Amino acid sequence: MTLEEKAGQLVQYFDFGGATVAGADTTGVDLETAIAKGDVGAMLFVTDPARINELQRIAVTKTRLKIPLLFGFDVIHGLRTIMPVPIGVAASWDPDIAEKGQAVAAAEARAVGIHWTFAPMVDITLDPRWGRMVEGAGEDPVLGSAMAAAQVRGFQGKAIGEPGHVIAGPKHFVGYGASLGGRDYDEVDLSENQLRNTYLPPFKAAIDAGAGNIMSAYMGLNGVPAAANHWLLTEILRKEWGFKGFVVSDANGVNSLEPQGMAVDQKQAAVRALEAGMDLAMSVPSGPSPMLGLVDAVRKGELDEQVLDDAVRRLLEAKFRMGLFENPYVDPAKAAKVLEDPEHRRVARLAAERSAVLLTNDAGLLPLDRKALKSIAVLGPLAASGQDTLGPWVFPANGPKAISILEGLRTKLGDGAKVEYATGVAWPTRKNRSFFDDINKPEPRLPVDEKVEFAKALDLVKSSDVTVMVLGEPQNMEGESASRSDLSLPGEQQKLLEAAIATGKPVVVVLMGVRPFNLGDARPGALLEAWYPGSEGGTAVANLLVGDAVPGGKLPFSWIGSAAQAPYTYSFLPSHQPAGADTRYWNEDNSPTWPFGYGLSYTSFAYDDVKVDRAAIKRGEAVTVSFVLRNTGARVGDEVAQLYLHQRTGTSSRPVRQLKKFARVTLKPGESRRMQFTLSAEDLRYWSDATKSWIQDRSTFDIWVGGNSQAQATTRFAVVE
Ligand code: GLC
Repeated sequence: MTLEEKAGQLVQYFDFGGATVAGADTTGVDLETAIAKGDVGAMLFVTDPARINELQRIAVTKTRLKIPLLFGFDVIHGLRTIMPVPIGVAASWDPDIAEKGQAVAAAEARAVGIHWTFAPMVDITLDPRWGRMVEGAGEDPVLGSAMAAAQVRGFQGKAIGEPGHVIAGPKHFVGYGASLGGRDYDEVDLSENQLRNTYLPPFKAAIDAGAGNIMSAYMGLNGVPAAANHWLLTEILRKEWGFKGFVVSDANGVNSLEPQGMAVDQKQAAVRALEAGMDLAMSVPSGPSPMLGLVDAVRKGELDEQVLDDAVRRLLEAKFRMGLFENPYVDPAKAAKVLEDPEHRRVARLAAERSAVLLTNDAGLLPLDRKALKSIAVLGPLAASGQDTLGPWVFPANGPKAISILEGLRTKLGDGAKVEYATGVAWPTRKNRSFFDDINKPEPRLPVDEKVEFAKALDLVKSSDVTVMVLGEPQNMEGESASRSDLSLPGEQQKLLEAAIATGKPVVVVLMGVRPFNLGDARPGALLEAWYPGSEGGTAVANLLVGDAVPGGKLPFSWIGSAAQAPYTYSFLPSHQPAGADTRYWNEDNSPTWPFGYGLSYTSFAYDDVKVDRAAIKRGEAVTVSFVLRNTGARVGDEVAQLYLHQRTGTSSRPVRQLKKFARVTLKPGESRRMQFTLSAEDLRYWSDATKSWIQDRSTFDIWVGGNSQAQATTRFAVVE
């Protein structure tokens, strides 16, 4: 390969179809000419099989070496069939449904000619102001690691190259969820203690599950941009973890090293990224990729050609493993069939049902008694919006179809009861424009006369047996560049909620969104967190509200009372004043409204007879904790049994509680089951900043098992030598 051909393999361009995105002109490079010249190795944002074949044909017929292109895309929670947003699937605490959902996404992606997805997003975050919480699995490294590994298995199948599967690209390496102030794109400062014990583990789990790619983050980590961070991309990723796949930058991540002050020009940006361990530069084609400057850099001795060869080899290996040299094209006819597979929507509905979290259910308002109900009011702009039911990172060009909650309720209840709708309030709007509005061009939100609509909505509440209000944030208020400084319901939704409750009629609130909204003193009869429930969201929510499905989800983050308390985690250190942990502010408590791992059901559960098989073990040995879980209610239901641990003393101070094990089980009324979790030495090791190493201490360990992070059923054991 010539130097030019090598450098070309490290170039990835967006194809936005000529749209201007976030003010950036995306037509500075003629993509087809660049591909024919051998200056492109990969593309993204192309999902039409005919267009993929067209660009692929140029690469494999017009270039000297005929190397096929690698096509990547953000298939974060589906392509045509949309699963609940990843934080919602994490709330199912069911790695199996996470795997199944991403296997559906992979099948649809591969069918249209996509070889690689920029997912799972595995960023831990303790800050709900950060809009991208929606894409991850919340605040906990154990839940986050389980979801990361499950999604990689779903995307890749048993091995990279398996038909109907794609390369998984966990992102954003690393620490992006700790952006200062929850402000997307701002810098991150994390100690090695936090990185090793909290932010890195989900990436390690994804790589141990076989992930073939890693995407580096945008931001400066401890002052060094992730895209040129040798400690991250080489010391940790390749030397410590033995990662053999390829690393891609985030969008313009290599280009941006210049404005980040890490390079005097685009050529040096490419050199510094490559020397740190970067392989592929993802760029908006406003101008030539920085990677093309590597030719000159090698010629002038500014970069060792071996470094270039290593990066090129990793990309070629990915293309070989995906079989692209033998089969570079895709069959559009086959694609259409895969995209319409009804099994995909069944998985989406199941995932949405298992993701929902029941937060309150006063006097058993839910499940609704469909026989007795004659009239139901459905309120709120989100209730009737299929597009918002899908959540962010969904592109209309891929033809996703969603059942809105209103449609779901009409289908489920419309025969026996009158289901009437009123928007009640205008669409809440952002102060600034989301660049996704450039890409997605959402249909205009029709203006409403709020006074008229508000009054109409309240009349409907008064004349109905029950009201279902769908409240939350439109899809462009969460996700990338969607940070928000407060947790109230945007627009006039809170007023509508309070007015509806004040009528004295029963009100059920279904939350659509991800932020732990602060509903003030408003206390609806029942509160169900549905996240953005995806293509089958309306059907799933209707099933949950009438009891054809039973909520079993649990919060993947602490539902904090106000954004001002972020960042927050349940897994905090005891401090020198443990007793005051919940009252650090003089003006309000800082205990969460609902704790990490919390969620109700239509039945109830009890935990008894918690015990360990050995009260004392040696370092390196395992201990098994067993307990009896019983369904003490009158309905079948799912419980997520969780095991939390506290190490009383150690080389470092250890968190008051840490999730270590969990399992979701279904029990019939009255059924009880003895369950057990085994803690290995691995579960007891942690990174200590005192020794700068992974260690296991001798200590006494408290154990709690229960249905959330405030579980009370307890036992203990000791590591004695
Ligand atoms: C975006 C995101 C990243 C995504 C990439 C390609 O800016 O940060 O998550 O995969 O660009 O769309």
